[in-house]
Amino acid sequence: MPKTARTRRAAAASKAAARARHLPPRPAAPLPGVRIEPAQPGDADAYFPLLLTAISRRSEADLPAPPEMLAAPPERLTHGQALCLVARDTTTGQVVGALAAGAATWIDENPLTDPATMRGFLLAGLMKYRIAGIHAVAVAPTHHHRGVGRALITAAEQYLRQAGFRLATLLHDPVLTGFYARLGYLSTPLLISFTPGGLFGEDHVGYLTAVKPLEPGVELVTVPQAPAPIASGVFPGCTVPAGSWFEDGHLVTP
Ligand SMILES: CC(C)(COP(=O)(O)OP(=O)(O)OC[C@H]1O[C@@H](n2cnc3c(N)ncnc32)[C@H](O)[C@@H]1OP(=O)(O)O)[C@@H](O)C(=O)NCCC(=O)NCCS
Repeated sequence: MPKTARTRRAAAASKAAARARHLPPRPAAPLPGVRIEPAQPGDADAYFPLLLTAISRRSEADLPAPPEMLAAPPERLTHGQALCLVARDTTTGQVVGALAAGAATWIDENPLTDPATMRGFLLAGLMKYRIAGIHAVAVAPTHHHRGVGRALITAAEQYLRQAGFRLATLLHDPVLTGFYARLGYLSTPLLISFTPGGLFGEDHVGYLTAVKPLEPGVELVTVPQAPAPIASGVFPGCTVPAGSWFEDGHLVTP
């Protein structure tokens, strides 16, 4: 594969991520005065404007949960297929943090998951079962740097794990790399997932993808000559064997 600006950026990010990995993520301590819980229909006026502060540079359409979602009964996640959490001030009842998550939406943006083909349709279904996306997380400015963001993301990971997701991903502005590194995420311009449909690349100009294994056996593997870390072990039979390398866009196994 020729060395493009993207592969160079990816290599630099892999090095930065490797350094960040050495910072042990701190477990979420109980937060005095703040409770993390599923959003209620009555929270919509606080919940959605707060989430929009997290996606101001992206399109509002990126947020897959319309207000009616807060009335949806729990299914796979707290609100149907969506996870909608709030951080609530236990004294005032006020919403001071918000998070929305579910299956990763970037799965649908790739030609490999074109629903017009049977292969694409099936692959999208498999990936949405295992790879989660945290669509947005935001904390009211009055409550920044008190551990509310950490508590929301840690709670989301627990819900996602229980729902069977094995990998958490989220798209973020590069300035937030330090925040996600403290929570155990690796941020990369390009993520490669080893799927039953082959290697699946995901990138977004101007953003990084933060990624974190949710289960033992899932790993972000650095493969020689690969332009990005490879998510291994997310799907049965899709584990990168030791000694593999990357050549002409393909994984070569020993
Ligand atoms: C990003 C945001 C959610 C962080 O919430 P928060 O409640 O202030 O974060 P926490 O207090 O839980 O911080 C957790 C850790 O990250 C660090 N951190 C917090 N904000 C950070 C930032 N902007 N850059 C780097 N590190 C940061 C904290 O120091 C803390 O580290 P520690 O473990 O060493 O103590 C909040 O600033 C926010 O809502 N921003 C606006 C919306 C937004 O940009 N959302 C993200 C969209 S992807």
